[in-house]
Amino acid sequence: MPLDLAPVPEELRGLRIAVLVSGGIAAYKIVDLASALTQAGCEVRVAMTPSATRFVGPPSFQGVTGNPVLTGLWPVDGSPEPHVALGDWAQLIVVAPATANVIGRIATGRSDDIVTAIVLAARCPVVVAPAMNDAMWSKRAVQENVEALRDRGVSIVEPESGHLASGHVGAGRLAAASQLLKAMVEAVQSRYDLAGRRVVVTAGGTREPIDPVRFISNYSSGKMGFALAAAAADRGAHVTLVTTASHPAHRGVDVHPVETAQEMLDALGEQLKGADVLVMAAAVGDFRPARTATKKIRREETPRFTLELEPIPDILASIRSDKELAGVFRVGFAAEDSELDAKAVEKMKRKGLHAIVANDISRRDIGFGSDDNAGVMLFADGSRHELEKMTKREMADRILDLVLPKLSGEKGAES
Ligand code: C5P
Repeated sequence: MPLDLAPVPEELRGLRIAVLVSGGIAAYKIVDLASALTQAGCEVRVAMTPSATRFVGPPSFQGVTGNPVLTGLWPVDGSPEPHVALGDWAQLIVVAPATANVIGRIATGRSDDIVTAIVLAARCPVVVAPAMNDAMWSKRAVQENVEALRDRGVSIVEPESGHLASGHVGAGRLAAASQLLKAMVEAVQSRYDLAGRRVVVTAGGTREPIDPVRFISNYSSGKMGFALAAAAADRGAHVTLVTTASHPAHRGVDVHPVETAQEMLDALGEQLKGADVLVMAAAVGDFRPARTATKKIRREETPRFTLELEPIPDILASIRSDKELAGVFRVGFAAEDSELDAKAVEKMKRKGLHAIVANDISRRDIGFGSDDNAGVMLFADGSRHELEKMTKREMADRILDLVLPKLSGEKGAES
């Protein structure tokens, strides 16, 4: 390479990177890569195929990364499924060197060794750096496998031409460190397009207490908000989720549990400072009990019971008038059963939103409690985007895709 001469780009610093090593002579060069990444502030975890361990001993990688090295599918540190744990953990995966064998096995979805299993369990961008003999590299079988990986979004770092271990001169030598790092940065940038952004999401139906054991709420499951938080976190944002619903939270999402609309407003007052985006997916109640009984209301003692309700102040409207929060790009939701566009536009104006996502709640196949959603996203600038039926996670990414260009330029939203 030599790797120690290649400065690690800023974009990679601090990332959780899984370095997967298969059995080629170039494996020794990857010790330098793992070391350089670790020194640049990345958290690096290494996994090796059995044949890779014949070229370089796992203690070398453990030494430079400070982390144990995975060499098999069976647990070593109490983690029940090391491949799933590492696939989940990684923000970037680099397979280097990638032998013809490992490329073929990834291409066919094999998972019977730790390297291929991690790639299959990955949720992050994958960079593959092939290295092999020139005759192997030129074979149609290998080229077709490489193409298959490319088609599926894997980034391939083409090997270089030069002197090969076999004594031949030709294409097949592991790419230079600078090329590998460049591909890693590109993979990260395309995926972590919200890096450096602070996104606040609300989720779930607010709960307004009647007495210590009863509350008024609604059918909101919180799934849309959780999907938005997960999508933003996967794209590199710092995410705060203010929620009444308690689903398992996605890695990296900072969860603030709340119950009432007032608690949600208070939490937002804190969390929105310095935020770029607020997505208000929570179904905030319209009315709450005017008084909350301090003791359980007993049927025996209260044969007839009238509940007096008072309106809940609009959270979005009060955020709008907060000067400190003027820079936050605000996205609201509107659940409507008719005249979707007209009502959503009116709501967007009234609540001072930059955008609104309107759902048709008369449709039984989407919305409340469902894993799917559909609707339309409208922006204050007049643009309109149809959101055909898709999973809530897909819709979350679509919403973020549409919001992202509005944030470009200066950090912080237009108001
Ligand atoms: O008026 P409606 O409840 O349909 O408005 C929906 C949007 O307004 C959602 O984004 C919801 O989170 C937000 N909202 C709010 N404060 C309320 C009621 C709703 O911010 N009190």
